[in-house]
Amino acid sequence: MEPGRLARGVTRVYLKSERVTNAALGLIRGCFDGIWLGLLSRRQLARIDEAYYDGSGLYVTESYNRQGLWHWEQAAIENYFSGVRRIVVTSAGGGREVLALAKAGYEVTGFEPHQGLARFGSRLLAAEGLIVSIAPSERDRWPAGAIGADGALVGWGGYMLISGREHRVAFLREAAAQLPAGAPILLSFFVQAGVARRLRVAAGVANPLRRLLRREPVNVGDALMPNLVHFFTRTEVAAELADAGFDLLDFGSMDYGWAVGMKASRDQEGKACVVTSVELDRDRTGVGQNANGGACA
Ligand SMILES: C[S@@+](CC[C@H](N)C(=O)[O-])C[C@H]1O[C@@H](n2cnc3c(N)ncnc32)[C@H](O)[C@@H]1O
Repeated sequence: MEPGRLARGVTRVYLKSERVTNAALGLIRGCFDGIWLGLLSRRQLARIDEAYYDGSGLYVTESYNRQGLWHWEQAAIENYFSGVRRIVVTSAGGGREVLALAKAGYEVTGFEPHQGLARFGSRLLAAEGLIVSIAPSERDRWPAGAIGADGALVGWGGYMLISGREHRVAFLREAAAQLPAGAPILLSFFVQAGVARRLRVAAGVANPLRRLLRREPVNVGDALMPNLVHFFTRTEVAAELADAGFDLLDFGSMDYGWAVGMKASRDQEGKACVVTSVELDRDRTGVGQNANGGACA
């Protein structure tokens, strides 16, 4: 055979076999996730998450936590948090975002459900001479002590670790109850692009098992990595924000999934306002405008 044709044939066979292998691996991984997602209770999933962070040395190293904000976090803060002074950071881990934001001059309060990470972060912040600590918080819940802020950052990946749509929306509703109108919130997560088949298989295998066990169903997007995470689409994140009273301001998925929401304003009749400008008055209340140009907060 002519060498050129042979080389092209090998390339074609290689590319095809690579696609088939990836599809088969996605299917196997989806089945694995589906079986375990079907069997594990919410409490067991929380224990796995705890054990994952117990064993992950990275988040308790100074070098990691001194790296500052990732570039998309930095851009989101610069673009959407310009009027903000007091930021709550939930899922704060060992303090990476809290340290960076405190150094940038924000008043920050940090919260974290993993006690070892919270202790490490508080020690690190104290060693920097900062009067900021990371308080322990309940997993999946907006922290009870997270009040008085005018912006919120859900620590890197923390939003996708809250399992179940209704629990995530409840978390955002609790956040909305504590934030002023116009306040921004930054969320981050994995995105579904490229893993959709694995995710569909996982939910398809898990939910019949969960019905048998009389457990709440998992959602398409839930996966084990090895702790439970939820992979999002833009539409999904926008809908969860909207259900909790936030407008989606921006969304990115280049290096990591992230979204900025803004607590929606309501006019006096309770109708949503289109916020054309956010000015924080002396009570740190955001001011927006309804369609007729009337003020609303
Ligand atoms: C990927 S780490 C990021 C930590 C830190 N924000 C950072 O960027 O280094 C995710 C954090 O979310 C916390 N977390 C895990 N499950 C959670 C849950 N269900 N609710 C709130 N936080 C959770 C973990 O303990 C961990 O600290």
